[in-house]
Amino acid sequence: MYILGIEATAHTFGAAVLAVSGTKKRILANVRDMYKTKQGGLIPVKLAEHHEAVCAAVLTKALAEARVTMQDIALIAVSNAPGLGHALKAGVIFARSLALLHKKPIVGVNHCIAHLEVASLITSARDPVLLYCSGANTQVIAYDGGKYRIFGETLDIGIGNFLDTFARKLGIGFPGGPIIETFAEKGAQLITLPYSVKGMDVAFSGILTYLERKVLGRYSREDICFSVQETVFAMLVEVAERAMAHCDKDELVLGGGVACNKRLQAMAQIMCEDRNARCFIPPNNLLLDNAAMIAWTGWLMHTKGGVSDDPRTLATHPYERTDDVRVTWR
Ligand code: ATP
Ligand code: FE2
Repeated sequence: MYILGIEATAHTFGAAVLAVSGTKKRILANVRDMYKTKQGGLIPVKLAEHHEAVCAAVLTKALAEARVTMQDIALIAVSNAPGLGHALKAGVIFARSLALLHKKPIVGVNHCIAHLEVASLITSARDPVLLYCSGANTQVIAYDGGKYRIFGETLDIGIGNFLDTFARKLGIGFPGGPIIETFAEKGAQLITLPYSVKGMDVAFSGILTYLERKVLGRYSREDICFSVQETVFAMLVEVAERAMAHCDKDELVLGGGVACNKRLQAMAQIMCEDRNARCFIPPNNLLLDNAAMIAWTGWLMHTKGGVSDDPRTLATHPYERTDDVRVTWR
């Protein structure tokens, strides 16, 4: 069966076609078009305008790459939570229109849960702890008693937003994470920064203020980026390890765009080796916002969990939390 996934929770509009047959699963197309800015933050209305402008072309490209037509699609999955209201609406209205026009079943997917479920699409992880580090979200998640529970999270901004905001202050553009990574590779001196772990939670805004007031302009960009990465990634890996110990789980999966970072990946791998656990890292195109993870989660929810939504009324939920969703498909 062919599943069409649509992703539009934030800056990326994506369309993907996934083929599932028995235990075989293949991503036939995973097309993304990302809204980028040189300066300033993401303006929600502009995101919606971007998604409306590219949605038809992205869908056409995905169908062509997969060599299927809308007639072949058996299910439409769309991310309807959480995210920026305008962006979410653009994606959901597009998916609802497709479902009504082509008379297809539709299912609304929580974007954060999709970042987690993608692990079961391409790895052999069975019951992992997820270190989910993206733009807006930073959470340590694990399955327990019918829900994906959040064991630790950021108390203020997401790790990606922290990196992007800091990159703007350094004047190196958006998205800042990958550029910080390049500078960090050439850094050597570890500048002491605030280390902000509170129990199972982390916080970044104090580090941002400290960087602005005490660090910027006093050290090289390379050393600053190196120290930022060493400090904040150590914080993330520490809370992930604590969750693994607490839940007695021996698998870790990385998720979200910041998990593309090679230094974060290396630190997570070292931690897992130390505790005889396995570390799973999906490829970059499945770590960043993408529609293949939405298609896969939609398939799980629909076929294993019996979830189905009404294409005339499927709503968006900008503030839905990971642990608001009852997991019926495991
Ligand atoms: P969310 O999933 O919470 O809605 P999002 O959609 O912004 O957030 P993703 O697409 O998963 O998140 O990730 C985007 C973030 O990943 C950006 O903040 C970007 O700077 C960061 N990022 C991408 N590549 C890297 C890298 N190599 N190192 C560090 N950060 C990175
Ligand atoms: Fe995301």
